[in-house]
Amino acid sequence: MLRQILASDIQDVIEISFYDSIQAKTIEEATEMQKKIDKDYESGNSIAWGIVDKVTNDIVGICAYFRGLDKGIGELGCVLLPQYKGKGFMSLALQLALNLGRDMIGIKRPKAITTKQNEKATQLPERLNFIKIATVQDNAIAYKLKPKV
Ligand SMILES: CC(C)(COP(=O)(O)OP(=O)(O)OC[C@H]1O[C@@H](n2cnc3c(N)ncnc32)[C@H](O)[C@@H]1OP(=O)(O)O)[C@@H](O)C(=O)NCCC(=O)NCCS
Repeated sequence: MLRQILASDIQDVIEISFYDSIQAKTIEEATEMQKKIDKDYESGNSIAWGIVDKVTNDIVGICAYFRGLDKGIGELGCVLLPQYKGKGFMSLALQLALNLGRDMIGIKRPKAITTKQNEKATQLPERLNFIKIATVQDNAIAYKLKPKV
């Protein structure tokens, strides 16, 4: 299940709170980051969801669409709390994010960018029917959703 990240969640997500690739170290930093994320949502630049385990209601990770939402383009980003890796949460969450992005925000061209070294992250677009479109600077790999035939 995906839902908005609330002030009461911050304590649980400090270690996976990032903004501009900088990781929060304290609850204050994570709170500041969340304010920026909320502002980006209001201005239409990005949307971030908390990923919730339906059984326990705990936040297990975060996924987001960045940039270009108004132009029908969105780049997926995601991170799981370490204890929830390897259980399929992210594959399911990104499928929900793709559906919500398509149906509610009009994202027609979802993208994903990973690095070659990030083996687990490269498996996600492959599972979700994305295709490789480019290798950037020998290291980053860009993907787009496979067009429907
Ligand atoms: C990238 C990241 C989110 C991937 O996490 P993940 O746990 O591999 O992804 P999922 O939650 O989809 O789990 C998939 C694993 O669960 C298994 N699994 C179990 N039940 C499953 C189910 N119902 N559906 C799908 N997979 C399932 C899969 O077989 C797979 O196992 P494997 O890794 O042994 O192949 C995680 O490694 C992470 O947070 N990394 C740090 C941040 C990062 O790099 N983000 C990406 C930046 S582009």
